[in-house]
Formats: sequence, C-alpha cells, structure tokens
Amino acid sequence: MARFLQLTDLHVVAPGTLCSGVLDTGAILRAGVERILAQMPAIGPLDGVLVTGDISEDGSAASYDLALRELARLGLPVYAVPGNHDSRGAFRAVFGGQAWMPAAGMLDWVVDLPDTRLIGLDTLVEGQGAGRLQPDSLEFLNLALNGAGARAAVVALHHPPLRTGIRFMDNIGLENPEDLAAAIPANCGSVLFVAGHVHGVYLGRIGPHRVVTAPSFCSAFALDRRANARVGFLTGPTGYALLDTGPDESWTAQPLFMGDGPIDF
Ligand SMILES: [Fe+2]
Repeated sequence: MARFLQLTDLHVVAPGTLCSGVLDTGAILRAGVERILAQMPAIGPLDGVLVTGDISEDGSAASYDLALRELARLGLPVYAVPGNHDSRGAFRAVFGGQAWMPAAGMLDWVVDLPDTRLIGLDTLVEGQGAGRLQPDSLEFLNLALNGAGARAAVVALHHPPLRTGIRFMDNIGLENPEDLAAAIPANCGSVLFVAGHVHGVYLGRIGPHRVVTAPSFCSAFALDRRANARVGFLTGPTGYALLDTGPDESWTAQPLFMGDGPIDF
C-alpha cells in the first residue's frame, strides 16, 4: 500500500498579486498546508504529495517558488503533472531536480513504489484551457500500464476524462478521452485515474477503470448545468484528497476547513 495526499488546482500567483483580482492563493496554500500538517498525526504515514496540475495561475517563476516552498513544509516527496494554467518550461525548471522529471518532451513520468505504479500524464496544450493527450503521452501510458505487473496502477492527470455538466468547464475538458481509452491495454487490471481541473469531486469511468477528481485547494464551481450559468468561481468549499492504493484502496476528499467538534453523541 502507498498513501498519497492529492492536492490540485492551487492557482498560486506571484507574491503581491491576487488570483482573478480576489484570491490570495499563496496565503490560502499556506493556511491549507498548516491545516494538513495539523491533520497528519490523524492521517498516518504518507509516501508523497501528488499535485494534479494548476500549481500556478500565471505560470510565473515566482508563483512556483512560493508554491514549492509551501509544499516542501509537508516534508514529503512531491510528484506533479501540469495543468492548463501551468507553463511547461517553468514547471520543468522548478521540478528539474526530481528523479521523475523527464529531461525532454512531454511531462509524462512513472514512479514505482513497492506495490504501486504511479503514472503522471501531461495534458497541457499551452495557450488553451482544454487538455489533450498527445500521441507520445498515449504511447507512454500504454507502455507504463503494460509494465505495471502486479502493482496497483494509479494515473494522475489534470484534465479528467469525464463531464461535469457545468458547460464552461466541459468546454475546456479533455479533448480526446477516446484516445485515452484506446491506450489502456485490454488485459490490464482496473486502473484508478485521479485528476483535478473541475474544482470539485466527480466520479467517472473508462470501461472498467475508475476516474475521480479532487476538490481544488483554493476555489470551487457551482453545480449549475443551465446554458446561461454564470461563469465564475466560488471561494469554497476547498479541499484535498487522500489516497491509499492496493487491495485496501480508498480515496477520500477532505475539506480544508471543518465544522466544530468532535462533539459527544
Ligand atoms: Fe484549476
């Protein structure tokens, strides 16, 4: 079993600026890290932090510096895939020292833990909100899943292969989910895909494989499926996810800020 925190959609901006002119996402990240640190004794040992994209809002080097400094306080290995707000160049620079970061090409990677294969996929198309898996990434996934053996396979990507019904988000979803489905080897066991992008918890599937999305660390979207739904974000609820892999697999989304208690029954 391996246990990961999944953090997603941090949207950190350069210090002194605000995300969408409203959110101090650096301060939100700092407070959230504090919250998770306080939770850690209750959660148990962890093997890493998996960040499923949109670490930065503006792609600036300063935003990555701030984000990485805060994430480092968790004292865990950090594994990350880029989201539509990330800059591939800045991302590669900031994670360049990590063993999992490829030297060139798409930011696809594999990390093997004793009984878990964690696969990161790059869905970023720079200059647009929607995501797309390029042929190289699809081939990478096929090879990585074929080589997973008896390990539990978890695939991390920013743009989930599912629809939320929120039109302005579905309009910038994953453009080629059918290519993703075709890249999964027919004989492989059930794969868990974990994603972000939609700033909420959604469940989907690709044949026998599971897809789940984690809440954003900084904002949310109203579940408004009308054609005239207001385009914009909510300041909460925010959260993160906790993943245990293997035969006792579990995945739970946790709010960053809880109600009062525990109160005796
Ligand atoms: Fe996002």
